[in-house]
Amino acid sequence: MTTTTSLLGPLTSPATLAGLDLRNRFVMAPMTRFRSPGGVPTPEVAAYYRRRAENGIGLVVTEGVLVGHRSASHETTVPRMTAGAAEDGWRRVTAEVHAAGGRIAAQLWHLGSEREPVDGYPAWTPATMSTADIGTIVAAYAEAARVAVRAGFDAVEIHAAHGYLLDEFLWPHTNRRTDRYGGGPAGRAAFPAEVVGAVRAELPARMPLIVRFSQFKERDYSARIAASPDELASLLAPLVSAGADVLHASQRRFWEPVFDGSPLNLAGWAKRITGLPTITVGSVGLTRSFPVSESMDRLVAGLTGGDYDLVALGRILLGNPAWVRLAEEGRLDEIRDYDKSHEDTYF
Ligand SMILES: Cc1cc2nc3c(=O)[nH]c(=O)nc-3n(C[C@H](O)[C@H](O)[C@H](O)COP(=O)(O)O)c2cc1C
Repeated sequence: MTTTTSLLGPLTSPATLAGLDLRNRFVMAPMTRFRSPGGVPTPEVAAYYRRRAENGIGLVVTEGVLVGHRSASHETTVPRMTAGAAEDGWRRVTAEVHAAGGRIAAQLWHLGSEREPVDGYPAWTPATMSTADIGTIVAAYAEAARVAVRAGFDAVEIHAAHGYLLDEFLWPHTNRRTDRYGGGPAGRAAFPAEVVGAVRAELPARMPLIVRFSQFKERDYSARIAASPDELASLLAPLVSAGADVLHASQRRFWEPVFDGSPLNLAGWAKRITGLPTITVGSVGLTRSFPVSESMDRLVAGLTGGDYDLVALGRILLGNPAWVRLAEEGRLDEIRDYDKSHEDTYF
């Protein structure tokens, strides 16, 4: 059988990500699935991640995992890291992914003021965090990282994207502070950088710390944290100094330029600015023609051109846990085009 391995090209080559060996360049993007009653990932959750790992994903990034503070979220089926049996649940998840030859990062999440009122909770009124609140939340991230290491994770990702807590500090529209956590880009990055530093301090030296960031917000696709490459550089510098060693640059479409006058995407800019390895993401592979398409060529060109090191797949993996294997083996007619209804399935 002729395979398309040559079409996937360098995406199938092994990589070392800040000291962590990966069998290829494919990452499973973090996706919230609401399958962890009481915040505890079940055996079904472990099987779900294992299925992606045994079918070719090199690095799984978990769905957002709530840090241990009551303000993080009141969703009851979003997993937690530090509550009750959550640690044991995650230990099962990491063991299954490892048994399948994969690696796994825990994404740590606090929703900030982005939330819907739910039954039993009063409507949410966001309030300015005091310095004491900031210290409490930094400690909650550190505790979650400590537990993640114990539970067998290979890396930790800090969710600083999409309009949630840390991104609310990065984005001038939501960060109206006049203290040292607001103002210019260095001030806006100060709290996220404290979180990065506190998490870094909990991780073994060679365990990658990934920071995920974005221009867009879940509720505003045109929003931007940085109006220019210089502003982006000023936002990223404190995160890098604090110990980020991989940047996961979230875009809705990986091929879109972010600043005028350059075709570079967000991961490309992040890598050019910081020199750190980057992960790109955004609408990769959503149709079965992808592995032979022009956008595939573009994805590979960005990798070989040094714009990014890894490529994350999100929605296409919901209905196609074996996407990487099927694409590698040229079994394109077995790939299902992405359909919104895949979000309602779980296998
Ligand atoms: C159902 C669903 C849940 C998601 N949950 C998260 C999340 O918990 N954390 C996060 O950083 N991004 C989350 N995302 C965004 C994805 O990680 C990814 O960036 C996005 O889907 C774009 O990639 P894609 O076009 O390959 O799907 C979610 C996306 C979907 C579709």
